Amino acid sequence: VRAKPSHPHDSARLHVSGLARYADDVAEPADMLHLAFGQSSQAHARITSMDLDAVRAAPGVVAVFTAADIPGVNDVSPVAGDDRLLADGEVLYVGQAVFLVAANSQMAARRAARLGRIDYEPLPALLDIAAAQAAGSRIEPTQRMARGDVEPALAAAPFSITGGFDIGGQDHFYLEGQVAVATPGEDGQMHILSSTQHPSEVQHLVAHMLHCSSADVTVEVRRMGGAFGGKETQAALFAGAAALVAHRTGRPAKFRCDRDDDMAMTGKRHAFRIGYDVGFDARGQVLALKLRLASRCGATVDLSPAINDRAMFHADNCYYLPAVEIVSERLRTNTVSDTAFRGFGGPQGMIAIERIMDDVAAHLGLDPLDVRTTNLYRPGRDVTPYGMTIVDNIAPQIIDRLRADACYDARSREIAAFNAASPVIRKGIALTPVKFGISFTTTHLNQAGALVLVYADGSIQINHGGTEMGQGLYIKVAQVVADVFAVPIDRVRITATRTDKVPNTSATAASSGADLNGMAAYNAAMTIRQRLTDFAARTFNCSVEAVHFTPEGVIAGKENLSFAQLCRKAHIGRISLASTGYYATPDIAYDRAAHKGRPFYYFAYGAAVSEVAVDLLTGEHKVLQVDIIHDVGRSLNPAIDTGQIEGGFLQGQGWLTTEELVFDDKGRLLTHSPATYKIPTASDRPLRMTISLWDGENVQPTINRSKAVGEPPFMLAISVFSALARAIASVAPDKRALPSLSAPATPERILRAVREHRAQ
Ligand code: MTE
Ligand code: MOS
Repeated sequence: VRAKPSHPHDSARLHVSGLARYADDVAEPADMLHLAFGQSSQAHARITSMDLDAVRAAPGVVAVFTAADIPGVNDVSPVAGDDRLLADGEVLYVGQAVFLVAANSQMAARRAARLGRIDYEPLPALLDIAAAQAAGSRIEPTQRMARGDVEPALAAAPFSITGGFDIGGQDHFYLEGQVAVATPGEDGQMHILSSTQHPSEVQHLVAHMLHCSSADVTVEVRRMGGAFGGKETQAALFAGAAALVAHRTGRPAKFRCDRDDDMAMTGKRHAFRIGYDVGFDARGQVLALKLRLASRCGATVDLSPAINDRAMFHADNCYYLPAVEIVSERLRTNTVSDTAFRGFGGPQGMIAIERIMDDVAAHLGLDPLDVRTTNLYRPGRDVTPYGMTIVDNIAPQIIDRLRADACYDARSREIAAFNAASPVIRKGIALTPVKFGISFTTTHLNQAGALVLVYADGSIQINHGGTEMGQGLYIKVAQVVADVFAVPIDRVRITATRTDKVPNTSATAASSGADLNGMAAYNAAMTIRQRLTDFAARTFNCSVEAVHFTPEGVIAGKENLSFAQLCRKAHIGRISLASTGYYATPDIAYDRAAHKGRPFYYFAYGAAVSEVAVDLLTGEHKVLQVDIIHDVGRSLNPAIDTGQIEGGFLQGQGWLTTEELVFDDKGRLLTHSPATYKIPTASDRPLRMTISLWDGENVQPTINRSKAVGEPPFMLAISVFSALARAIASVAPDKRALPSLSAPATPERILRAVREHRAQ
């Protein structure tokens, strides 16, 4: 009943020595073609004519393709069929792929791609949430999730506030950009190395695009250099382009997207505008909440319905909302289609309720942490707005422990005293919790397959549908399989994810990679172990109960032999040593039309205390100290999990403080390189940071009773945003109002908030 050992990431040595091979590192055949897109310069327009003669004549160019050259379906979308590989008559955002250049070098392709002469007839462009709202432009009907009679409850509440704020989007900024290498095989087959979280979807889309079958297309991915949701659907554009060129020319084709193009052409985290009316009592207990979530979805549907659903699912976070109405508007804009990003809408919903907690506390002059604990789910107040009863609530215990361990109350008092005497530097502290639902909310995606091969020398290969993007999925699943046979981890060889080994997989997403693939691999390994057990019992004349797999070898009655010896004997005894395994998450069901049901198998919890210092003259800030307690159930690998918590937190901190997407009035992204788009660096890491794993286990029978860890810690960084607002509030300590602040809290926004809060 304890955590598994912290084996290092299976590629750690390769990562740090530069020997890890990414798609772009695989040796290029001499006839490899390199690709670039000609892009739309318009946010919304009809293409009236296209003159590509100069592109074709440019040095090194081998071929130029447009939508008319696609043999099958011109679509690279995950669900709705509305993402063109190459624009067909109309462009919907700046940067949209219009034509495709294949040349002898990447530079030649990129240079030539700029020589296209495209004439446009401009159409009205909606560039932000407000414009799309005014025009009623949506990707699907507005969704509503509700419980109780909100209006009367609001009217009857002793106190009420109306408020709102904006949350910016976020670029994934994976270190490895989008890349795909397509190699045509004999007889119409196609092999694609793709940096994708979703090999099966790339396979399926390429098959449709080339008008062939899934069996003709193999997609392989050994590893990604980061993905963060940005390669769940977005990889298909580049894989599709490479496959089209390979198909049309019969030559291998590589698309390695340039960073600036990548930032302009691929989807981002959804920007949100939040509005609320909240009614509460004198203790800060919420009695009624009307919440409005409006998001910028971009030009097409992509995964926006599920992402916005997840925002609604997390707008309660850890708090019971007796009467609640959540209205979620999904706005269609003429910007690149927004997509999955760590948390998948959850962070936007969660920061809404956390800000509301801060607002209620400021209004009543209470400590925000006391308001939070007053509102926590607890027995009798344990049903979510979507009707799911929470049976694994450990938020109260985690918060209590962290409050004590991080000395929250003493530090709050010290900070108040510090601020009273400090004219320029002001500090703030906040503790915010996380409750994150684990499962794809689209129920059928919660399945996985694996393939385990045991060789006669006792070595093992594993393969499963999950992809490795740095998160440590491969090593976790390898540990599961090594444990089944009680062999050392180095007996298990991890192999690349391939659609010709495990078919019909879901994206590695929703943090469920280890839950799903770990269990599928476990099932595959257990099938083989059962066969070996039966064989050993027969061979050594003992009962199956007398067969044990131990680190000292296999014990069968009086026999003790090595795992390798047993495998050799079993092979000669004609026992199959290979098996597939399969797993589907039990007990989940969700009625999307009613927004009721049990979308999640369980919840992952955590809490963070952040302390910040703000410079009132420059608006700059520093995160001084962060203390985290996070729940990963019974950990599959504590070191990997701790890394996910630290990385997730920092990425969340970037989202809320420094990373700003700026579009101009023509819909062009101005912040499309690290010169202008600022992700956190080593020096932005909190000066002091502690991370503890909560000592507990999943109430559900997941693999090793572990919990998913990929996304939940991202939202711990909401504590930084809350702490910043509190530091700003110190400029007018007697004012019972929360400083207005939108995310990201850049120096400009902080200065404005300071000025406004002083003035009001
Ligand atoms: N960690 C690293 N190092 N790189 C990544 O791209 N993606 C995150 C998270 N952690 C990511 C990461 C996202 S968005 C998800 S959904 C999960 O990993 C996916 O992997 P898992 O399901 O195996 O946790
Ligand atoms: Mo993660 S956003 O589910 O890929």
